[in-house]
Amino acid sequence: MAKTKKRFVCTNCGGVSPRWQGQCGECSEWNTLIEDTPATVFSQKHDLSSGGRGIEFVPLNQPSELPVRKSTGLAEFDRALGGGIVPGSAVLMSGDPGIGKSTLLLQTAATIASGGNDVVYVSGEEAAGQVRLRAKRLGVAEAPIRLASDTSVRDILTTLAQGKPPALLVIDSIQTMHSDTIEGAPGTVSQVRGCALELIRYAKASGCALMLVGHVTKDGSIAGPRVLEHMVDVVMSFEGERSHQYRILRALKNRFGAVDEIGVFSMETGGLEEVANPSMLFLSGRDNPLAGSAVFPALEGTRPVLVEIQALIVKLQSGATPRRAVVGWDNGRLAMLLAVLESRCGLNFSSAEVYLNIAGGYRLSDPAADLAVAAALVSALADRPLPDKSVWFGEVSLAGEIRPVAHSDLRMRESAKLGFMRGYGPSDGKTGSSTLDYSAVNGLAKLVDRVIGNE
Ligand code: TYD
Ligand code: MG
Repeated sequence: MAKTKKRFVCTNCGGVSPRWQGQCGECSEWNTLIEDTPATVFSQKHDLSSGGRGIEFVPLNQPSELPVRKSTGLAEFDRALGGGIVPGSAVLMSGDPGIGKSTLLLQTAATIASGGNDVVYVSGEEAAGQVRLRAKRLGVAEAPIRLASDTSVRDILTTLAQGKPPALLVIDSIQTMHSDTIEGAPGTVSQVRGCALELIRYAKASGCALMLVGHVTKDGSIAGPRVLEHMVDVVMSFEGERSHQYRILRALKNRFGAVDEIGVFSMETGGLEEVANPSMLFLSGRDNPLAGSAVFPALEGTRPVLVEIQALIVKLQSGATPRRAVVGWDNGRLAMLLAVLESRCGLNFSSAEVYLNIAGGYRLSDPAADLAVAAALVSALADRPLPDKSVWFGEVSLAGEIRPVAHSDLRMRESAKLGFMRGYGPSDGKTGSSTLDYSAVNGLAKLVDRVIGNE
């Protein structure tokens, strides 16, 4: 005899709770608990080794036809995807509202449709006329895309089931979709998950590639991408500052390729354009060296990108709590660096406001940025510019040591190529292949001496 019991599951961490509560007891996220189908507990005697259908095994080494990837027409997008779209796969395109997801997918859809493939674009956010206007603006109004403005997953799948499956199905966005088999308004966790599951099932069964748009908000409060990450094959994140021109497409998860590749685009009046050589993009005009500015040779996958880190330190007269504001880097990491600079190098930031900005709206995730950030901070505090045409890289430990980082040679070669003359980094950073004049920084205290001018 089966016993059933009601339970609630957290959509963020999977933690189980016997009753609903606003905050998950396991991961402390808010509003993530949803009612789960009652767990069925069978008695010990129940045996699963009979009564099922036989499944068919195929040898792993059996030669089979590999699906041919389809190019998106944008080399930068293909690159982030690991070489194009895989048929039957599900791609989630996540990003802040207004960043350009619809624009990117409409451009892609148009290219694939113009290549003689059947493409269906369903917008739940815009009327067909609005999408048409956008297509006109992008110069792809003539592409033979089948366009629909609808939000019912049942209607969409019923219609698609009547004909041959398309090569590409774009759903913009998953938060607007609605399934009548699930309770709740569109955008709730159960709706988003249920709709995505149905669409993904259709994609896998029919071999049509699926692209889902998913909005995220700054605090992650709208249900969406986080719950979907497990279900889709590829999670793409489209990033950038809306007020800046440049956008970065990053693969956060990819079952068919590497995750550390990026694609760089610039948002122009006629849509997104590829930036094939982005290493100079994020440097501001640098004629005179300024205090508080350091250049960091970041690495994105296999691709070096030079970015400028700007620090500003404002000494406070009153006893007010000083602010620390960061754009484009991790807040916690800045707090850690300030603590290391204070405790290992005797600097004092406690009565000063600290502002840190990564130029050009870039978001740094490379841990090798520590040394460049520290150099910018010390230079701002001392009000002395860093040596002209210098780049800085290395990870800083809590003891104030500079730890080695991956691919120092690649970082230095790219910096030399762009006209930089000096490199500062960990003690094993020097390699033979670059013309950069390299100096090892043996600890943060040495950096401070060097910048303040004692050495
Ligand atoms: P959109 O693709 O609608 O963003 P999302 O789908 O991620 O919400 O893009 C929105 C912004 O892009 C909009 O603010 C204007 C800008 N944009 C351009 O600068 N040029 C263009 O050709 C287009 C279509 C949009
Ligand atoms: Mg949109």
